[in-house]
Amino acid sequence: KDPKKLQELTQIATRMEGMYGSGSHCTGEGDAKTCRDIGQLSEVLATSRDYDAQLDAWQGWHTISQPMRKDYIRFAELVNEGARDMGFADAGEMWRSGYDMSPAELAAETDRLWDQVKPLYEQLHCFARGRLDATYGSDKGQVAGGMLPAHLMGNLWQQDWGNLWDMMQPYPGAGSLDVNAALRAIAQADLASERAKPGAPGATAAQREVEAERAAALVTAKKMTERAQDFYVSLGMPKLPQGYWEKSQFIKPRDRDVVCHASAWDMDMAGDVRTKMCIVPSEEELTTIYHELGHIYYDLAYNSQPPLFQGGAHDGFHEAIGDTIVLSMTPDYLNSIGLVDKPAVSDEAVINGQMRMALAKVAFMPFGLMIDRWRWGVFDGSIKPDQYNKAWWDLKAKYQGVAPNGARGEEFFDAGAKYHVPGNTPYTRYFLSHILQFQFYKALCDASGHQGPLYQCNYANNPEAGKRYWAMLSKGASQPWQKTMKELTGKEEMDGSAVLEYFAPLQTWLKEQN
Ligand code: ASP
Ligand code: SER
Ligand code: ZN
Repeated sequence: KDPKKLQELTQIATRMEGMYGSGSHCTGEGDAKTCRDIGQLSEVLATSRDYDAQLDAWQGWHTISQPMRKDYIRFAELVNEGARDMGFADAGEMWRSGYDMSPAELAAETDRLWDQVKPLYEQLHCFARGRLDATYGSDKGQVAGGMLPAHLMGNLWQQDWGNLWDMMQPYPGAGSLDVNAALRAIAQADLASERAKPGAPGATAAQREVEAERAAALVTAKKMTERAQDFYVSLGMPKLPQGYWEKSQFIKPRDRDVVCHASAWDMDMAGDVRTKMCIVPSEEELTTIYHELGHIYYDLAYNSQPPLFQGGAHDGFHEAIGDTIVLSMTPDYLNSIGLVDKPAVSDEAVINGQMRMALAKVAFMPFGLMIDRWRWGVFDGSIKPDQYNKAWWDLKAKYQGVAPNGARGEEFFDAGAKYHVPGNTPYTRYFLSHILQFQFYKALCDASGHQGPLYQCNYANNPEAGKRYWAMLSKGASQPWQKTMKELTGKEEMDGSAVLEYFAPLQTWLKEQN
């Protein structure tokens, strides 16, 4: 309520977001100075299998958040004060209050859901450790206590292990699912055709090359986005408005720093929808586009509701819409859009397909939970500033079974290296989404008349599924989520059993392997 404090809070929030957006790690001096941004450092983790190169990239990125620590301490004090002004015990309780149940019940729900899926995660974790040991040797492939080394999981935060496909693939050769390679080939072809065009008059060869690369990157990014749009349109949903294509940020601008972390925006609650991304040709980025368009189609579907109802049934619903489409990106679907060969039909191919999905979805679940376990603790005072980093790594170990390969003392602020912490975006929504999306997927598969195992279902081109989905999206926040959930799935509860049904073959296989 105090305008001075509000100003201070806003300045801190802006500064932290800015630090993240301009984050870059530099080495060397003078002419030898080189800097790498989040995209370049992520690329090292995705593609290098050199232990030290990955460690260097991982540590490099985690320097960008060190100066945020002081800001975050004050930030937590100020948001707590605001939350108390609004009648909540602290900001964490405020975050837990938007779920049509008490904050305490919501916390207990997340424990219950995690207990349901944890045995599956443990099998995947054990299997990953074995493959890391085989690749790096058992002295380097794991950290004391059977932990997975944070810098070797193909991702800065160990939230998606999809980049480890080369070492995790159960049956090499049983149907290639190398979407990354297919996207890189498309990007190369786009570059070749841009190079073939005449450049600007008077431009040097170097300038022409730069412009061609840039034009090609935009062409590829828009193509990837069109494939995502096609899926939604195939369900009977509208095409994205012209303004979307004109005003979105598809690729990283070259004249300024931006937050590249993907986001979706409903600018005017009346159809001016946009996404902001720095798209590169990779499988992870492709699925992120489908994810972001989920937000956009939700926005468009509830734009006819009164303003207060223009929101997700709860925030986990919002995060789950696009991911429910991603679950339908089966090998058959990927083949239909030309990204993989005709899928092999065999038990081995099933396990490969399941592993591909598990590396993205199952690996994510404990991460989705631990971020706010940390922030709930910071906000309620059980995690004190002088314990920020220790508590962070304690929770990483407890939920994800992940550890750094050396000490991470309180001179670091490793939480700040994950976008949603400086960006102050609550994170429990993503954990809930990873449960919900399997429930939604199952409901849409049923609506489409799918027969056979759940994991085989692809409801693209099915207007029945589309109608059911659109009806749910149009409800927005106009009724308690339990009602919306029941209308779509027949049940009022969030429930991890669809996750377990989906991954049943993989879970059996993992147990045998382990
Ligand atoms: N906006 C997405 C997430 O934070 C982007 C991503 O998947 O990176 O929900
Ligand atoms: N988009 C969210 C993130 O990047 C969840 O996947 O963390
Ligand atoms: Zn999202």
